[in-house]
Amino acid sequence: MGRGPAIAAALGVLCVASAVLLVEGAELTTQLSNGFTATHAAGAAAAFEPVLYAPNAVFAFGFLRVGTASLDLAVVHLPSSFPLWRATPARLGDWSRAATLTFDDSSLVLADQDGGVLWRTLNAVGDTVALLNSSNLVVRRYDTDAPAWQSFDRPSDTLVVDQNFTGASPLLISSNRRFALRLGRTYMALRMEFYGGRATPEYWRHTALEAQPGNASEPPVYGRLDARGFFGLYLEGGARKVDVLSFDTFLQSPAGAFRRMTLDDDGNLRAYYWTDNSTAWASDYRAISERCELPTPCGAYSLCVPGDAQCQCLDDDDDSTTSAPPCRRAEETADLCSGGDGQSQQVGFDVVRRARVSVAYKEQLPVKTNTTEAECERACAANCSCWGAAFNGASGYCYLIDFPVETMVYEADDRKVGYFKIRRAAAARASRMSPGMAAATAALSLVLVCLAASGAYSGYRLWERRRRKRAGMEQELVPGPYKDLKSMASSNSSLKA
Ligand SMILES: *[C@@H]1O[C@H](CO)[C@@H](O)[C@H](O)[C@H]1NC(C)=O
Ligand SMILES: *[C@@H]1O[C@H](CO)[C@@H](O)[C@H](O)[C@H]1NC(C)=O
Ligand SMILES: *[C@@H]1O[C@H](CO)[C@@H](O)[C@H](O)[C@H]1NC(C)=O
Ligand SMILES: *[C@@H]1O[C@H](CO)[C@@H](O)[C@H](O)[C@H]1NC(C)=O
Ligand SMILES: *[C@@H]1O[C@H](CO)[C@@H](O)[C@H](O)[C@H]1NC(C)=O
Repeated sequence: MGRGPAIAAALGVLCVASAVLLVEGAELTTQLSNGFTATHAAGAAAAFEPVLYAPNAVFAFGFLRVGTASLDLAVVHLPSSFPLWRATPARLGDWSRAATLTFDDSSLVLADQDGGVLWRTLNAVGDTVALLNSSNLVVRRYDTDAPAWQSFDRPSDTLVVDQNFTGASPLLISSNRRFALRLGRTYMALRMEFYGGRATPEYWRHTALEAQPGNASEPPVYGRLDARGFFGLYLEGGARKVDVLSFDTFLQSPAGAFRRMTLDDDGNLRAYYWTDNSTAWASDYRAISERCELPTPCGAYSLCVPGDAQCQCLDDDDDSTTSAPPCRRAEETADLCSGGDGQSQQVGFDVVRRARVSVAYKEQLPVKTNTTEAECERACAANCSCWGAAFNGASGYCYLIDFPVETMVYEADDRKVGYFKIRRAAAARASRMSPGMAAATAALSLVLVCLAASGAYSGYRLWERRRRKRAGMEQELVPGPYKDLKSMASSNSSLKA
């Protein structure tokens, strides 16, 4: 595809622009002023339509197609086509219909073709909009550097270098919206999101090494990704570092590496970096290193066998029959309680019992000690918000699973037994739906996100090629996003399994 036309097309969306960056004749807009309007044409061919570039031409902000036909605003890392930030309105736009982005009356507004507001910057009064070299999208007054509004305060699934993640920040949410990262006063934690956030079991927690949980006058921690290759936890109101999650490249950070930390769709929190020579993101940190310790590597009602990370279904009678997942049960979208508030009647359920099972993240579950297997079962059976229980006959510990059963972990110990409820009435309906519609949709949206930015990417390639030529190192870049897409898609497909 011609690069010139791509840029021309990208710029064609602009109606008003106030500052431009000159890249050997091609003009890239680097600032928007009040009165700016850009239009997304119904069903546009390019999956990303940039309207604003960072001065380093590595990032652009514009209309992004999400999934097959939704429209969002995003800040995209052009060399990889990866969206670092998305506006994520409650109601996404429709790609097949026209939409407008305006900067008027001091706020950025995304509206559909009927003028319905899909998303806008709130509580901000500004004169200009710019995308910084850090990828931060900022709305500012002329007379001050401090932004009135910045995308860094509203992360989606990704954090970048120098972006402060605090207890007051919105949660980091995976793009399939099933997992979240949050900061507590002295720790960071990953949790699952069920029933639209009414059940949020935690599956990973890291407490800051030098924080003092017992000291109420100590300020809470905030986190920040550091270009040197670590995620630091600091005390608010100062720069006192209380912990460091160091990455594999710590102290030997590749020159010019651009880093991001993303809550991926498999529920793992990973750090990645990209250098000038990259064709795919390289990962140098993951919060959870064993696949079986992820929250749902094998899907709902399944069992993950450590070592070879093989998946089985929970209702297989014994270890030898290994019917491959996806297992027959679809993910649950409501608890087993019926009737109104205060009622604890239970809908009908079947029971599956299985030996040699355990939960990967049992530290975070409600526990009863000094129980017997029968008592453990009874405690769960009688409670409509309990979906299962894992009992350890050696210790007498009974862990109650107060959220839909996901993947259990195999342990070669006959004293570790599990009791699981399976909704009866919904089983037929559930199995008709392919397991994990959400996962499929998410996979699709990832595909499209990764295919995005063709116009912007061409613009970047032009700029990059000329830069390299100037630097006397002309070499053809191998387009990166597809490789990355494959690895993302495969990590994502584990959700469906
Ligand atoms: C942003 O990057 C460009 C190109 O690398 C550079 O010329 C400019 O000085 C940078 N701006 C800031 C504020 O660092
Ligand atoms: C992040 O926090 C530090 C320390 O509080 C502050 O100096 C810096 O300006 C903040 N960065 C952003 C982008 O808000
Ligand atoms: C509690 O935290 C405050 C603020 O960081 C500090 O000044 C104080 O010494 C701490 N108290 C104890 C008992 O460590
Ligand atoms: C455990 O339960 C048994 C029987 O209910 C009781 O006799 C015993 O004192 C309990 N032990 C502890 C440590 O609570
Ligand atoms: C049912 O289980 C939930 C979650 O473990 C717990 O909060 C609640 O107290 C239990 N209800 C009863 C009646 O035991």
